Amino acid sequence: MKGIEVFYSVDALQSRLQSEQENTTIGFVPTMGALHYGHLTLVRASIKACDVTVVSVFVNPTQFNNPSDLEKYPRNFEKDIRLLRTAGDVIVFAPSVDQVYPANYQTIKLDLGRMGSVMEGKFREGHFDGVVNVVKRFFEIIEPTNAYFGEKDFQQLAVVQYMVRYFDMKVNIIGCPIYRESSGLAASSRNERLSEYDKKDALVISQILNEAKQDALKLSPQEVVRIAIERFGKSKLELEYFQIVDPSTLMDLDTWKPGAHACVTAYCGEVRLLDNLQLVPNE
Ligand code: PAF
Repeated sequence: MKGIEVFYSVDALQSRLQSEQENTTIGFVPTMGALHYGHLTLVRASIKACDVTVVSVFVNPTQFNNPSDLEKYPRNFEKDIRLLRTAGDVIVFAPSVDQVYPANYQTIKLDLGRMGSVMEGKFREGHFDGVVNVVKRFFEIIEPTNAYFGEKDFQQLAVVQYMVRYFDMKVNIIGCPIYRESSGLAASSRNERLSEYDKKDALVISQILNEAKQDALKLSPQEVVRIAIERFGKSKLELEYFQIVDPSTLMDLDTWKPGAHACVTAYCGEVRLLDNLQLVPNE
């Protein structure tokens, strides 16, 4: 295999993967395209650890609760391919909606409990149902050894880990650290919709997260949240939520625990930005 190979249908992709020897390890990086350096760190981690790497490029309609967000989601397949070429040998899977959800597709409804109803689950109803369905479908098509997810979507990573445990799927879920621009801004496909001025305004997110990390050394979680919310109130961004949560249950914390994370979503103009930071080291 050399360079980039692109497949558009499930059958063609599966025949390609079946042409590999039996014990070939497959790394899988699911994406919605509009690739950036954050995605590349996942692709590189997969290339390093696995014999073959599959990157899916599919804007999954079922995980968007807002039609205009789906419509405005940046798409640039040629640029994506150019960027992937810089990472090495990659099998790209770019299916149509009909390939992913054929007429006989049975939607699954996994009860995520509280994990599915807080933060993103609260503000983007049905979002995780869409994520669970598409990720499970891709896992069934590709049967990866490892699958790589960015820690920027912190709750998504927890939901996927839960799903894999629930269905007893044979795939290792690997979380990769957030890739930040030198300014501190977390890399995101949505950043393409920010002007240079917006990008400056958006820096307040990582600044407030870092201030929260300092505050965590001396204040309670509730105090840290209160102060962070006050800081957002003075910024140009419109805060949706700022929460300090347990990393595995995503429950709000009122006392500090190893691994405690601050999770935040804020609007910069019309663009919804997501970020998080670990405030307390792991045990
Ligand atoms: O994180 C994303 O880009 C998407 O939610 C994912 C995992 C590719 C599923 O569509």
